[in-house]
Formats: sequence, structure tokens, C-alpha cells
Amino acid sequence: MDRPDWKAPLGTAFNHAMAYLDGLPERPVSVRASLTDLRTALGGPLPARPLPPDQVVAALAAAVEPGVVASSSGRYFGFVVGGATPAALAADWLTSVWDQNAGLYVLGPAASVVEETASAWLVELLGLPAPTSVGFVTGGQMANFTALATAVRDVLHRIGWDVDTDGLWGAPRVRVIVGEGRHGTIDRALRLLGMGTGSIVAVPMDGQGRMIVPALAQALAGSDGPTIVCAQAGSVNTGAIDPMGEICDLAHRSGAWVHVDGAFGLWAAASPRLRPMLAGVERADSWAMDAHKWLNVPYDSGLVLCAHPAAHRAAMGVRASYLVHAEGGERDALEYNPEHSRRARGFAVYAAIRALGGTGIADLVERSCALARRFADRLSAAGVEVLNEVVLNQVLVRFHAAGGDHDAYTRRVLDLLQDDGTCWMSGTTWNGMAAVRISVSNWSTDQDDVDRSVAAIMACAANAAAEMRAGGRLA
Ligand SMILES: Cc1ncc(COP(=O)(O)O)c(C=O)c1O
Repeated sequence: MDRPDWKAPLGTAFNHAMAYLDGLPERPVSVRASLTDLRTALGGPLPARPLPPDQVVAALAAAVEPGVVASSSGRYFGFVVGGATPAALAADWLTSVWDQNAGLYVLGPAASVVEETASAWLVELLGLPAPTSVGFVTGGQMANFTALATAVRDVLHRIGWDVDTDGLWGAPRVRVIVGEGRHGTIDRALRLLGMGTGSIVAVPMDGQGRMIVPALAQALAGSDGPTIVCAQAGSVNTGAIDPMGEICDLAHRSGAWVHVDGAFGLWAAASPRLRPMLAGVERADSWAMDAHKWLNVPYDSGLVLCAHPAAHRAAMGVRASYLVHAEGGERDALEYNPEHSRRARGFAVYAAIRALGGTGIADLVERSCALARRFADRLSAAGVEVLNEVVLNQVLVRFHAAGGDHDAYTRRVLDLLQDDGTCWMSGTTWNGMAAVRISVSNWSTDQDDVDRSVAAIMACAANAAAEMRAGGRLA
């Protein structure tokens, strides 16, 4: 076989990548192409004949780029989406070049050791107990799924029920006590696990979305059966963090397993300044978090951590005669995540941590929080209502229509803003009110990005008000 020409397609990809990344700071953040445009550009019949790889890459890039959301821009504030730091992005490229199957040590020894090292760094960075085991999963959803699968198996095992053999049919019901403000991926994980959302006992939240501790105590007192408590570090709306220490102590007194959904908020534990907000989080039994959020590793990259490595491995492990299982203490990654074969996600996580270092990660988290505060201060000074206490990187705002409909006005401001392209943010409903969510999660966001975005927001608010006045709806 002739030597393949790697240079042409990779060179084309590199040139497109550089043009994209260099243009990112000034690129409109919203997408210009319509669904029809994209289907026209990318659809068509099944190609009958081959095409040279560099032509495929060039055509793909040209057709795709108008439909790419510039979510790694410093002015993308939608959902909770991190960017990609240069080291993490480059390591992610190499991950595809090396194309390791990170299931077993024997399939990729370096990938295994990189995960081992990155795991130890993470545990130290977050101040979690040693030994804590770590699985590299696709995101917060699968991290919650993995942790809850481990928790259910463990709390039932403790009372003599063997989930591995007998499943959940006829098992004592496991209660899962959660805050009302939990993320939907907890419910979805319970559905996927066959637990059903009927296993949920929802505890009321306070005005910021934090679990109310006396209500948790009451729920725990309601039964002495197998119980899991899910706390949350970082409400997707307000950024609020549940009172971790009190929750862990109460739950453990009742023999419950404590899982923390810290998809983004747990990164605050890396900051000595912010860590007190999470005091006691190290006493939980398992944690879910995302490297593709605040660590700014390219998608997809989630992390599940467990203070009980044997229970973690028992829940996830798989054996087969054709597999070569590690026997000398090497890490077989499939013992820690639900996948069998998978991408070697550890390389990008390792590179992100190596490039930033502990102080760089703390700085990234603190800077995002300071910029969120700047958003809140600037918008508040301009007469916009800030609905949350800005404790982390999330800001929730609402626009007031003088004598008019605040919900309609808020939604219209958001529509205009999403069209405008200076920045992008998403909407939500908070305590029955329409609101705009601002999430500052990108390493490259600076004060100028915030100020330009505030100016765009206020211009859209003025335009929406003018529209409403013209339509006879005061704003
Ligand atoms: C608190 C929380 N949990 C879970 C998730 C789900 O994470 P992912 O989308 O990475 O699966 C999110 C996503 O924003 C989140 O904020």
C-alpha cells in the first residue's frame, strides 16, 4: 500500500482551524445559517465515489462553518459552556491522532497512566479524600448516572440485596432525596437506572435554589430504608451551592450515601478564596463534574469521582475471557465508567491541568466570578433587575417593562440579543418569572467582552421597548 498522505487533510484542517480560532474574537456569536441553508450545504445523496481526504475536509469546513455556534468565544454566555484552552485543544487533537481505546491498560498504557496522574491531581486540587477513584465520562449526565449506579448498588448491598444478580425487581425501595432545584440529569439518571422518578423525595429549596436543611432532616427522619441524598454544587440558574457540610453530616448520621452534582460549581473548590462556600464537600461519597465546563476542555469531558473505589469498581467493572485485565495495579479505565471502548479523554484533561496549574485554575474560576459580578453591577446600574445573589459565575436578570408585561419584554430582549450576535445568552424561568441567564465560564472572557455585551444588551432592551411602545404595549 502507498504511504497515505496525512499532510494534505491535516494541513487543510490546520489552516481552517487557525482561521476559525483567529477569527473567534470578532466572529458573531450567533449562527447566521438557517436549517434550510445547512441542509442544502450538507445534505444530498449517498456519495457513490470516493473523494480525496483534503477535499472532504475543505468542503466539510466550508459547509459547516456558517452553522457553527461560536461557543468557545469569550462572549458566549449560554447554558454553562466552557471554551477550550490552547493546551487542552492541542492535546485533544493528538487524542484523535493516537486513537487509543482507553478501556484497558493493555490497549493504551500511556492513556491509562495519564488518567491515573490527572485523577490524582484532581483529587488534590479539589481537596477530596485519598483514595478517591475517578472515571472519565462524556459529561455531567453520565457522571451522575455512574455515581448513582454505584450508590444504589452500595446502599442495597449493605442490607443484603445483590443488585448485580437480582436487579431492582423486588428490591427494597431506595429513596433518593434531592433538592427541588436539582438538575434534570439526576431524574434522567434515575430513569435510566430503572429506579424511576418515583424514588425521588424532593426537599424544598430557598430563594436561591439551595436545599433547606431542616426539610432534609425531616425527609431523612421519614424512613430508615436505603437512602441516597443528592446535593448540588452550583444551581444552573443561580449558581447557588447547597450547604455541603450540614447535608453530609445529617445524611451520614442516617446511613445515607451523599452524591454531589457539582457539574460546574465543584471547580470552586480549586480556589482557596471560594472553597469555604463548599466546606464539608469532601465528606460526600461521590461527586459529578465537567471538565468541558469550567476547566475549558473541549467536549466531551465529564468526571465522576468516588470516595469508595472498591464500590465504584464493583458497580462498573466487567470481565471477559478475551480481555486482558490489569493484574499489577495498572489502571483499567473501564472499571470506572459505563463505557467499554472509549476515547482517551484523559489527555486533554491532563494538558489543561498541566498548562494552568493549581493557581491558574483558581484564577480562571475567580476571574469568571468577578466578571459575573461585573455583569450584575453594570446591568443593575442600568436599571435591570438582578434576580440572584451572584455567588459564582451565574447571573440571572429580568427586564422591567414600565406598566407592561415583564415576561414578554424579557423574552423579546433575549430574542433581539440572540439575533444581534455580539454575545449569546439563554433564557429560563425562575420562580415563575422569565429571566435571562448569563454564565461566565470561558477562560478567554475579559472585561471588554463583558462591557461590549452589556452595551449590546442595553441596546436590545431599548429596541424592544421601542417596539412595544409602537405596538401599544408599554415598555
Ligand atoms: C448542575 C448540573 N448537573 C448536570 C449537568 C449536565 O451536564 P452535561 O450536559 O455535561 O451532561 C449540568 C449542565 O449544565 C449542570 O449544570
